Amino acid sequence: APDIPLANLKAHLNQFQTIATNNGGNRAHGRPGYRASLDYVKGRLDAAGYTTTIQSFTSNGATGYNLIADWPGGDPNQVLMSGSHLDSVSAGPGINDNGSGSAAVLEVALAVARENFQPAKHLRFGWWGAEELGLIGSNYYTNNLGATERAKIKGYLNYDMVGSPNPGYFSYDGDGSSGSGGPAGSAEIENTFRAYFTSINVPVRDTAFDGRSDYGGFIRYGIAAGGMFTGAEGIKSSAQAQLWGGTAGQAFDRCYHRSCDTTANINDTTLDRHGDALAYAVWNLAGTGQPPG
Ligand code: PHE
Ligand code: ZN
Ligand code: ZN
Ligand code: CA
Ligand code: ZN
Repeated sequence: APDIPLANLKAHLNQFQTIATNNGGNRAHGRPGYRASLDYVKGRLDAAGYTTTIQSFTSNGATGYNLIADWPGGDPNQVLMSGSHLDSVSAGPGINDNGSGSAAVLEVALAVARENFQPAKHLRFGWWGAEELGLIGSNYYTNNLGATERAKIKGYLNYDMVGSPNPGYFSYDGDGSSGSGGPAGSAEIENTFRAYFTSINVPVRDTAFDGRSDYGGFIRYGIAAGGMFTGAEGIKSSAQAQLWGGTAGQAFDRCYHRSCDTTANINDTTLDRHGDALAYAVWNLAGTGQPPG
């Protein structure tokens, strides 16, 4: 898998920050900063050769949008999808939550194009609207796919908050080693993310696979899923500070859902690692070899 350049991730975050600054300070559902964020991501994907689709929905009296990008090729009956929510809360620009995940998913998609990666599976990427209102966009997507299209999705990789300033390294507990686990295939996804972090000697701990982000609609339909998370309002314990460094007794992200979730609210090291980890997961889960047809 390619190394994802940190500078490219940060350039996307700077774009999201500028968009928020120019649009009343946020990128929230129903606000102009959301649509501008979507147009930025779509423009980059279109220029790279993706087939993009905007899916509209209504929530809370406003139109929301999901952006879906398909990389041409691969087995259409074996889809590997990666996604992140692109909306912020209205309180701030949402650079860690979730510019960070959105930038990582975008940059991995652009890396697929740069390398002309032609895996066995069909690759799809998604940016969800209105997550902050209750996973609205991603639930709309999975509910409206239909059983036939849903069954083609063999895995979904979710990124929501991967640049927390006082980071932990949490994998969704797909294998059920500390909870009830996820649909069949989720263990392989969790183990793939864990293998990447093992390779760079960074310890990983489980976090609940309970539906607190956009994978919820996928696992409800029995689709294998997984992802990483660097922590939100939770407080880093002294044991966790021993494990990962950073500051014990402080939140993983003290600016969670606040106006201070700006480009200053990012730990570059963890953002870089999570870009590389997603590339590793996509490359390893997509399979090699020629697709049929
Ligand atoms: N979905 C939460 C939010 O956007 C963040 C979160 C992600 C919390 C993953 C827990 C696990 O605010
Ligand atoms: Zn949030
Ligand atoms: Zn979020
Ligand atoms: Ca686990
Ligand atoms: Zn890197």
